[in-house]
Amino acid sequence: MVKVLFVCLGNICRSPTAEGVFRAVLEREGLAGRVEVSSAGTGNWHVGEPPDGRAVRAARRRGVDLSAIRARQAGAGDFGRFDYIVAMDGDNRAMLARLCPKGAEHRLHLCLDFAPGLEGGDVPDPFYGGGDGFEAVLDMIERAAEGLLADIRRKHL
Ligand code: 4NP
Repeated sequence: MVKVLFVCLGNICRSPTAEGVFRAVLEREGLAGRVEVSSAGTGNWHVGEPPDGRAVRAARRRGVDLSAIRARQAGAGDFGRFDYIVAMDGDNRAMLARLCPKGAEHRLHLCLDFAPGLEGGDVPDPFYGGGDGFEAVLDMIERAAEGLLADIRRKHL
């Protein structure tokens, strides 16, 4: 089993969206039994909560169900459990790099490095913005999901 963890700040907007979108891609490709996906936040404010209603509604409009996801906080132990730890922005990546045990650095990735043309970029935090932000997040994540799947196929399947 290849294991993927998406990580943002609160684990209620971007990373649950990425978890849901990537799970839908895996189901479409018949890979749900070979690749496992989850999400977490670097912060702890929303632990135990479902995703933000705006994220749930925006994903649902694209046929993706986020309703069963509950927020949890990322920790150093995640580097031992997941093959890919995918940070949604550079701040999240820097936080994760501080938690990362020596020798596990190759597991840490930036989400948009998997999106052709968007490499090095951040998936912007939509929490304090308007509804459009959630659509932009979905557009970026959909692009990255295809690239991440290609990377997993090339290296693991
Ligand atoms: P996320 O968005 O990191 O995409 O889940 C945020 C959600 C909540 C907060 C910040 C970002 N917050 O500060 O509570």
